[in-house]
Amino acid sequence: MAWLAMAFCFWAYPGGPAWGKYWFKIGSKAKLVPGPRGFPVLGSMNLMANLAHQKLAAAAILFNAKRLMAFSLGETRVIITCNPVVAKEILNSSVFADRPVKESAYGLMFNRAIGFAPYGVYWRTLRRIAATHLFCPKQISSTESQRKDIGSQMVSLIACHRGDFRVRDILKRASLNNMMWLVFGRRYELGSSNSETEQLRALVEEGYELLGKLNWSDHLPWLASFDLQKIRFRCSQLVPKVNHFVNRIIQEHKAQLNGRTRQDFVDVLLSLQGLDKLSDQDVAAVLWEMIFRGTDTVAVLIEWILARMVLHPDIQAKVHNELDGVVGRSRPLMESDIQSTVYLQAVVKEVLRLHPPGPLLSWARMAITDTTVDGYEVPEGTTAMVNMWAITRDPEVWMDPIKFWPERFVCKDAGAVDMEFTVLGSDLRLAPFGSGRRTCPGKALGLATVSFWVGTLLHEFEWVKSDHNLVDLSEILRLSCEMANPLSVKVDPRRES
Ligand code: HEM
Repeated sequence: MAWLAMAFCFWAYPGGPAWGKYWFKIGSKAKLVPGPRGFPVLGSMNLMANLAHQKLAAAAILFNAKRLMAFSLGETRVIITCNPVVAKEILNSSVFADRPVKESAYGLMFNRAIGFAPYGVYWRTLRRIAATHLFCPKQISSTESQRKDIGSQMVSLIACHRGDFRVRDILKRASLNNMMWLVFGRRYELGSSNSETEQLRALVEEGYELLGKLNWSDHLPWLASFDLQKIRFRCSQLVPKVNHFVNRIIQEHKAQLNGRTRQDFVDVLLSLQGLDKLSDQDVAAVLWEMIFRGTDTVAVLIEWILARMVLHPDIQAKVHNELDGVVGRSRPLMESDIQSTVYLQAVVKEVLRLHPPGPLLSWARMAITDTTVDGYEVPEGTTAMVNMWAITRDPEVWMDPIKFWPERFVCKDAGAVDMEFTVLGSDLRLAPFGSGRRTCPGKALGLATVSFWVGTLLHEFEWVKSDHNLVDLSEILRLSCEMANPLSVKVDPRRES
């Protein structure tokens, strides 16, 4: 009875049971962050199921809490903002430089990789290595020929399709092959499959599934020992397979170290000396995370861009005009052309605005100490999220937010933004790669890959509606936010090869 009475007492607080438990314990008279109470004990777990970004945006409007809303996921206190100013306050604060603990991430060794390493010396070392060696402009430009090679393979494969086809399978395989080449130095043919790529695809798919799931044990610790969703069990099955796969490649690289001229991520990490030197286990974790982070995001974004091009043939025609002017039809697009394709870049930005691959910025942040956000007290250990999807669709932030209008990034009309507008994290009205200390380290590489491949696919083909399937912009939120119904299209070649 006493337990029930306490559960209802905690639940009565704004934000639900986890917040109630905290405020009740410390007996503070602080101004409380508004938000849904959810259910006793469970809080608002239901908000995180399916399209969490949409449900959270609707709840923020309902509770008049767009600037800051509190809610509970079981015993986890969460705050979330749909406001760019408050988003900046959270993401750029050193207090929110940590990530909340996620059992599946630890189970998959990601606590030794950049994304889930706790804030501290080890994480800072990894970030420095990433910035100076893996994602520096020299490393990105040294892999240009590789993106070109895979881009041409995509073009050849797509050219074989006479009628409707699903472009997602090609994009996902191309993106995985790109990361495998970049990270492990392995080149695979897009048109043919072999046992190594199939094995890797299965490992990556299983990892996505595990990381993308809302794990009840993360928020209801008394459930943890039961492993009801079998997440711990599946992680323990997956990790030895991943270790075997990655360690075999690391050992092969070590054996050939002296004779190699190429520099993939394995070579770079194995060559580190002194304080930067990583154990083989840590190298495997960092590399494995790169495959995860870099594959899905790029493929998902390109599918959204192509869907928008099919839906808006007038805008596609403007991209074609620009490509004809900058490149001409006599030769393929080159990466150096991209800087002159201003309208194409505006299209990429507009798709990032309406369909950010991480609508809740992928992975949340956690407060390292007690702090204040937007004038409210926020205790240590609170999880903080930014609803980028809600910000980019807010009519108080963007004019005609639902309209697909790339011109907003290139013209001087009312409602347009500064022509120099950057999506790299300094302006929180559109920051699909996050911002602050934990911003995406792969953003320059991701954008270079997406812009070049989309430019190539549009330069080579006109993308037209399928005869049988409409373009459906419904979403599904897994690790990234994808089209719920894969894009089915037809293409007409534009260039003599
Ligand atoms: C279109 C492509 C991409 C998008 C939209 C994207 C988006 C994001 C977002 C939103 C975050 C969280 C940032 C934050 O908390 O502020 C993130 C983190 C991260 N991304 Fe990306 N990303 C992309 C491509 C890549 C690529 C190509 C790589 C590497 C190959 C990569 C590696 C990472 C890593 C390692 C982190 C964790 C950073 C940390 O916690 O310190 N991403 N990304």
